[in-house]
Amino acid sequence: MKRSSFLRVVFLAGFLTLLCPSQQLRADNGYEGWLRYAPLKEKEREKFGAFPSTLVVGNDSPLLQASQKELIRGLRGMLGRDLTIEKELPKENAVVLGTLADLRSLAPELHPPVELRTDGYWLTSRRIHGQECIIVAGATDRGTLYGVFALLRKIALAEDLSHLQEAQAPANPVRWVNDWDNLDGRIERGYGGRSMFFENGSVRADLSRANDYARLLASVSVNGCIVNNVNANPRVLATDFLPQLARIADAFRPWGLRLGISVDLSSTKSLGGLDTFDPLDPRVQSWWKEKANEIYRVIPDFAGFLVKADSEGRPGPSSYGRTPADAANTIARALQPHGGIVMYRAFVYDHHLDWRNPKNDRARAAYDIFHPLDGNFDDNVIVQIKHGPIDFQVREPASPLFGGLERTNEAIELQITQEYMGQQRHLCFLVPMWKETLDFDMRVDGGATPVKNIVSGQVFHRALGGFAGVANAGLDANWMGNPMAMANLYGFARLAWDANLSSANIAEEWTRLTFGNDLAVVRAISTMLLSSWPTYENYTGPLGAGTLTDILGSHYGPGVASSENNGWGQWHRADHEGIGMDRTVATGTGFVGQYSPAVQKEFETFPATPDTLLLFFHHVPYAYRLKSGKTVIQHIYDSHYEGAERVSQFVQMWESIRGLVGDDERYAFVLAKLKYQEGHAIVWRDAVCNWFLRVSGIPDTKGRVGNYPNRTEAESMRLQGYVPVDVEPPENASGGKAVACQPATGECAATFHFSGTLGTYQVNVQYFDQNNGKARFRVLAGGRLLDEWVADDSLPNSKLGGDTSTRRKIGRVTLQHGDEIRIEGIPDGGEVAALDYVEINPN
Ligand code: GCU
Repeated sequence: MKRSSFLRVVFLAGFLTLLCPSQQLRADNGYEGWLRYAPLKEKEREKFGAFPSTLVVGNDSPLLQASQKELIRGLRGMLGRDLTIEKELPKENAVVLGTLADLRSLAPELHPPVELRTDGYWLTSRRIHGQECIIVAGATDRGTLYGVFALLRKIALAEDLSHLQEAQAPANPVRWVNDWDNLDGRIERGYGGRSMFFENGSVRADLSRANDYARLLASVSVNGCIVNNVNANPRVLATDFLPQLARIADAFRPWGLRLGISVDLSSTKSLGGLDTFDPLDPRVQSWWKEKANEIYRVIPDFAGFLVKADSEGRPGPSSYGRTPADAANTIARALQPHGGIVMYRAFVYDHHLDWRNPKNDRARAAYDIFHPLDGNFDDNVIVQIKHGPIDFQVREPASPLFGGLERTNEAIELQITQEYMGQQRHLCFLVPMWKETLDFDMRVDGGATPVKNIVSGQVFHRALGGFAGVANAGLDANWMGNPMAMANLYGFARLAWDANLSSANIAEEWTRLTFGNDLAVVRAISTMLLSSWPTYENYTGPLGAGTLTDILGSHYGPGVASSENNGWGQWHRADHEGIGMDRTVATGTGFVGQYSPAVQKEFETFPATPDTLLLFFHHVPYAYRLKSGKTVIQHIYDSHYEGAERVSQFVQMWESIRGLVGDDERYAFVLAKLKYQEGHAIVWRDAVCNWFLRVSGIPDTKGRVGNYPNRTEAESMRLQGYVPVDVEPPENASGGKAVACQPATGECAATFHFSGTLGTYQVNVQYFDQNNGKARFRVLAGGRLLDEWVADDSLPNSKLGGDTSTRRKIGRVTLQHGDEIRIEGIPDGGEVAALDYVEINPN
């Protein structure tokens, strides 16, 4: 959509909202996420005709007050009904809300069908004293709150409640989100605006967003939130900071969400005035004890600490020859009397590895360091393990460490924020990817031991364990920077509750809650969601090679070679003969040997290894034939073309439900993002394919790579003011070059003559949208203005390259032979109104 018409839509929506403030028009900007409580359609509402009008609440704890308010809010929104509140069971149908203990006094004859574990709930419809009642009972107040949200979900999904009978409890005791917020208000790897917790080194005065966030999280049963960056600022533990943190905890508390913080292990030095942070030094131990006491005085329900140590420059116990267990236990013992826990991250590795040594392998680090410590961690320590052995890449095998800790609590760390997965600009629903890891059978001791049952504590009979999700939600109206990205937050939490839910189930549920129950909408959005990860993988990271992104910079656009020749260890070892890391026991780094013998058999040899992970485990020549029958190189070419093509279909699918998803602002926002993705997927496709063509020398059998008949390179146009510049790496621009309008010039133009015949065409202008200015562009054909726009996106780079290359699609343009095509650019700030090429395709 053109920017001008986008603004028109937004303006119109705002204007109409002023005119009719009622429910009629919901100017939805994504803030409500999956808790919209939009009015159900007449037919759906009919199902709830007999829904009680009275509510009995078992006690008046803050959580039950929140539950009661939520129920009233939800029913008012969806059914247009209000509830009258009674203290005793009335002589009419009622909703009865409370803990099992409350229920015992109200209706002693009622018992749940199974014993409810912590945070569990029971929903049922029963006759009590002759009246039809809906019962929402929790093992605890928190469980009751979760029961209310579950009931409201059922109503939003228009489910039949006449035979309501459901008892559920979470599989995982720990269901935490981690938010990597810095105290100055920036969020590391956050793509949804600035911090809702901190600004300018303090906790924000207005924490209403934190409260709303807690509500959103509680609705999907998240029970803990680490509010600051894992790369922690020691100040978070300062005595004057703790009361500030207590205010966040207060905002969370009505929603059963407990606050935790990331801590810097060297705080004893930087904050405590000691000359050491050796975890075995008694002074260090007593400092942590006193600090914990101090915290619990102001935050009595404090959840615990998250620790990143000896990793990417963070201080850690290795400085004193101590182990992660020594460090974890020292702080765990300080928290233990108060019921707090330590989440100690297994993301410990050396980022100065010698890449020339073929035996070096970052993937080995977590297991090498933590497996020998199995059994040495205290009971209130959980080792938090990233789902794969590297770092949230588009495809990784399950971390072998899940199978390597039988006497230690474990949690799986999933990244909800799409750091390596398109940073919320690309649609990428991560649930299917997470499910692959959760369902992966580690076959410890030969038995069935899927990761999901290990982290829940079930397999090794651990009392603690669960899920940590790096969310990084921010102050943007839609929380994550894109309404569609909320599906990942939702999906994470649903899996933390029950990892056996299917991806399709979660996709459908989220879609219905977020966009309504219209079948066409559900079908289109579910299809998009469910195919989005394989699509993203297709154009960014083939066959387990890792995300071929700029490893040293933004982690966003293409950067195939950036992972090589440096110590970070995200190597794919592609050279002119082949690609992949040999991680076998026989000839490679030995990483495969960290899995159980049964799993080793799946990965040790070429033929056994699935195509999807081939390059993670093996180095193969480009001509190696996959199980699919294709050569590796042809797979790389084909998958990139297929992936980019599929994104175009996403745009069409989205356009097909225009009007059905209801809300202009959300619709337009998502459409703009999908169109952007469509163009950026082509940038990816061309960069990766051209890099491999150049390095391998093997042409694409379909002749597409390096061959773009409808393109005119900007550097070959007639230039006024524009000058040709090299782009680095060269594959990130067509022909390796762009043209830039140097600021001093003021205004530039690039022109050429259309050499095709009379017809209707689509004109694609490939330009660069740097984040250090707002350059303007105009496109004219035969003197007619076709389009104009401002390059004001905030892509993660100020340079010309794969992060900033952007496509403007101008559809249905009538052109005749000889028409002059003219692109005018006006630079702004550091942004040089750069152009890569123009492509003119028959419509
Ligand atoms: C990634 C990410 C960092 C982060 C780190 C971590 O490497 O790029 O920003 O600090 O993960 O998980 O600790």
